Amino acid sequence: MLERRIKVNVERQNFELQEGIYTQSYEVPVMDGMMVLDALNYIRDEIDSTLAFRWSCRMGICGSCGMTVDEQPRLTCQDNLNEYSDEISVAPLNNFPVIRDLVVDIDDFMQKKLPSVSPWLIRKEEAPLDEGEYLQSPAEMAKYADNSACINCMLCYSACPVYDMEPNFVGPAAMALAQRYNLDSRDQGSGARYSVLSGPDALWDCTFVGECSVACPKGVNPAEAIQRAKVEAAQRWAKSIIMPWSQK
Ligand code: SF4
Ligand code: FES
Repeated sequence: MLERRIKVNVERQNFELQEGIYTQSYEVPVMDGMMVLDALNYIRDEIDSTLAFRWSCRMGICGSCGMTVDEQPRLTCQDNLNEYSDEISVAPLNNFPVIRDLVVDIDDFMQKKLPSVSPWLIRKEEAPLDEGEYLQSPAEMAKYADNSACINCMLCYSACPVYDMEPNFVGPAAMALAQRYNLDSRDQGSGARYSVLSGPDALWDCTFVGECSVACPKGVNPAEAIQRAKVEAAQRWAKSIIMPWSQK
């Protein structure tokens, strides 16, 4: 049987060498079950060790292998080459500065946007340790379970036209994660989160295009989480006018 080969056109850049952006093509033999990430690893191991890209788990867990494949944001360790014909293009994720080749800089998300929404459980008063865990029923957990599947892969930011136009936009994953904690029965910090979410560059800048949810490889639905948060934010605002003493 003839071996199938695929042509992989990789967008490359290395600012240290001041080469500009260019496309380099590689021929890769394809075996059944190979993912786009496997093709890149083949290139680096067998053809060109200078190609830079990021990955870790190969299991769709670490979130580090996001790239643009045939113009779409994809998690490359989960992107089967059987779904493509004889040629593919691989480029860095859109909307992020490129460090080198396929490696993008996500510091703005990790150091500013994500911490800005306090994505952790906040308690006004911690219960004493000898009282045990904060218990939760399966129904309570189901309220936020989908949003908790986020792996910070940045595909939703790459797909988001608002983030493309407004780099200060808090963005889909951070707001979906804010909702993950707002909906958690053990949390008491939604007031602080909503003051960020209702402020500039957050909920009200989302135009509900929905591409974030289409791009998400983990079944998170940031578009829906943001629209639900808008409803809650509007109710909180109305309540703050009518009953200012009731705000948490
Ligand atoms: S919401 Fe989905 S696409 Fe966005 S960072 Fe999380 S896992 Fe990735
Ligand atoms: S390598 Fe970890 S998600 Fe792809």
